Amino acid sequence: MSLLKTIFKNKKSNQNTPLCIPKHIAFIMDGNGRWAKRRSMPREYGHSKGAEVFRRVIRYCGDIGVEHITVYAFSTENWKRPESEVNAIMKLLSNFMDEAFADLEKEKVRVVFLGSKAPFSDELREKMEKLEKDSSIYKRILNVAFNYGGRDEIVNACNELIADGVTNVTSELIDSKLYTCLSPDPDLIVRTAGEYRISNFLLWQSAYSEFYFTDKLWPDITSEDVDKAIASYSRRERRFGAVSPSTETVK
Ligand code: FPP
Repeated sequence: MSLLKTIFKNKKSNQNTPLCIPKHIAFIMDGNGRWAKRRSMPREYGHSKGAEVFRRVIRYCGDIGVEHITVYAFSTENWKRPESEVNAIMKLLSNFMDEAFADLEKEKVRVVFLGSKAPFSDELREKMEKLEKDSSIYKRILNVAFNYGGRDEIVNACNELIADGVTNVTSELIDSKLYTCLSPDPDLIVRTAGEYRISNFLLWQSAYSEFYFTDKLWPDITSEDVDKAIASYSRRERRFGAVSPSTETVK
C-alpha cells in the first residue's frame, strides 16, 4: 500500500502534505465498448473485462480506506442498447452478486443498489434484495447504480415526500429520500475514456464534488490510476462556495 505512505509537495505552502483519502469516490466506468472494438471483439467482451476491473478497483479502494464507493454500472438510458448487450450486463450483475454472497464475510461491504428494481426479472430483483439485506450489517458501502438516472432519483425523492404529506421541501428532506441516502456526497468523481460529461449521474450529490478525468478506457484502469486520481484530489482546495483563508488576507 505505497499510496498511504506517499507524500507529495504542496506547491503553495511548500510543505509536505499527506495524501487525502476521499471518504466517498464515485466512478463512471466508461469505455468498455471502445476497448473491445480496438481488439475487434464484441462489446460484451469489453463489459466482461470491465466487470473484472470493477471488482479489482473496489477492493483496492477498500484497502486504502475509502468508506463509500459508487459505480455507474447501468443507466436508465442504457436500456436503449441492443438486447444482447443488455442481457450480457444483466448476467455480469448476476455473476457479481454470486461472488459477493460468497465473499461477504471477507469483503465486509454493504451493497446498495441505486435505482428502481421494477424493470428486472423476478430472479434478479430477488437476488439484489437478498444481497442488500444480507450485507446490511456492514458499515463500508458499495453503491451500485443500476437502472440509475440522477433526474429519476430526484423525481422519485420528491414523489416520496409528497406521499409522506410533506408540504415544505428542504435540501435535507430530499437528501433523506435519495437512493444514496446512506452515503455522504461524493468527494471525488472519476470518469474514464476521455468523456467530459456527467451523463445523468449523481446530479444532486455532485454539487461540490471534485472531478477527475482520464483518457484511459475503463478496462485498462489499474490501482496506479486510482492513486493518480487521489493525488490530484489531494491537491485541490475545496471551498464549498466560501473563500480560501489565503484569499481573505490579500488586500
Ligand atoms: C460504459 O461503457 C459502460 C457501461 C454502460 C456498463 C458498465 C458495466 C461494467 C463495468 C460491468 C458490469 C458491472 C457490474 C457491476 C455488473 P460503454 O459501453 O459506453 O463504452 P463505449 O463508450 O466505449 O462504447
